[in-house]
Amino acid sequence: MSRQNQTLGEFIIENQSSFKYTSGELSRLINSIRLAAKVVNHEVNKAGLVDIIGAAGDTNIQGEDQQKLDVYANDKFIQTLTNRNIVCGIASEEEDDFITINSQDENHQNKYVVLIDPLDGSSNIDVNVSVGTIFSIYRRVTPVGTPVTIKDFLQKGSQQVAAGYVVYGTSTMLVYTTGDGVNGFTLNPAIGTFYLSHPDMQFPEDGKIYSVNEGNYIHFPKGIKDYIKYCQMEEGDRPYTSRYIGSLVSDFHRNMIKGGIYMYPKSSKNSDGKLRLLYECNPMAFLAEQANGKASDGFTRIMDIMPTELHQRVPFICGSKNMVEKAEEFMRNAQ
Ligand code: AHG
Ligand code: MN
Ligand code: MN
Repeated sequence: MSRQNQTLGEFIIENQSSFKYTSGELSRLINSIRLAAKVVNHEVNKAGLVDIIGAAGDTNIQGEDQQKLDVYANDKFIQTLTNRNIVCGIASEEEDDFITINSQDENHQNKYVVLIDPLDGSSNIDVNVSVGTIFSIYRRVTPVGTPVTIKDFLQKGSQQVAAGYVVYGTSTMLVYTTGDGVNGFTLNPAIGTFYLSHPDMQFPEDGKIYSVNEGNYIHFPKGIKDYIKYCQMEEGDRPYTSRYIGSLVSDFHRNMIKGGIYMYPKSSKNSDGKLRLLYECNPMAFLAEQANGKASDGFTRIMDIMPTELHQRVPFICGSKNMVEKAEEFMRNAQ
């Protein structure tokens, strides 16, 4: 039961029994994410002060420049989850391959794997615009006590047991689901505690905001172009408002509160779009569905897609149910 002034720590303990596997392992896992989030938050907040901004000189597996805070956030999340001996494997957008934990210890009984986008919206760091962290949690499918394999990571999104994000915004929030609705917690930076501020978050069924990088319009498929024109048409409650931050976490967060649709379609330049199925789309799709919203690639439910590789990309349309369904209708009609 949620109540006023409840801290995230209290919420995790009180809701542990409602989760179908009650070993406490998942609670400990969410607790470590909470801890890593606070550490990364501290660093993100002083990004303008210290010499931590700017490219680290490396490129990640997708060939993108890595920023120093990406590396920092990646290290902190991996360290926290590894040191506390809570998961059996981690996959990260910033790592070429998955990480196996505890494979030397025959007694390790950890059941969960975590997939993370440690710093989402990293191009916004240098300009003091909100960034985030996205996480996705599955139970392993291979036997407990053995080293994890790629099979443990390549699961459909519908198999997720928990997912969430941290948004390092005007205030820092941790928003997550364990399959029983979505709850948002706001950090009080003075005392380093997250408080339940947004219980039972829901996407409004309809919205008036569309979020897409319209600079790529010329490269979009016809269905998306037609839907964008529909959003801009003078009719009923349209034209809609266009809002695009360029941090998926922040765009999603705003749209969930106000009602809206986020789109990162495929284009003639990127045949699968840009966003990663495992680190970005599946966790956001799980949150969206738990909050009465919808997520699709234009034709198929995101969480029904069977992944074939760790860093797979997929077109992504997500947000208020009626808006996503309308966009899908345009996609079908353009076929
Ligand atoms: P990341 O910083 O983890 O690489 O993700 C950035 C993603 C997403 O957060 C954002 O919505 C999108 O890329 C922005 O891409 P464009 O600059 O192409 O619009
Ligand atoms: Mn990202
Ligand atoms: Mn990232």
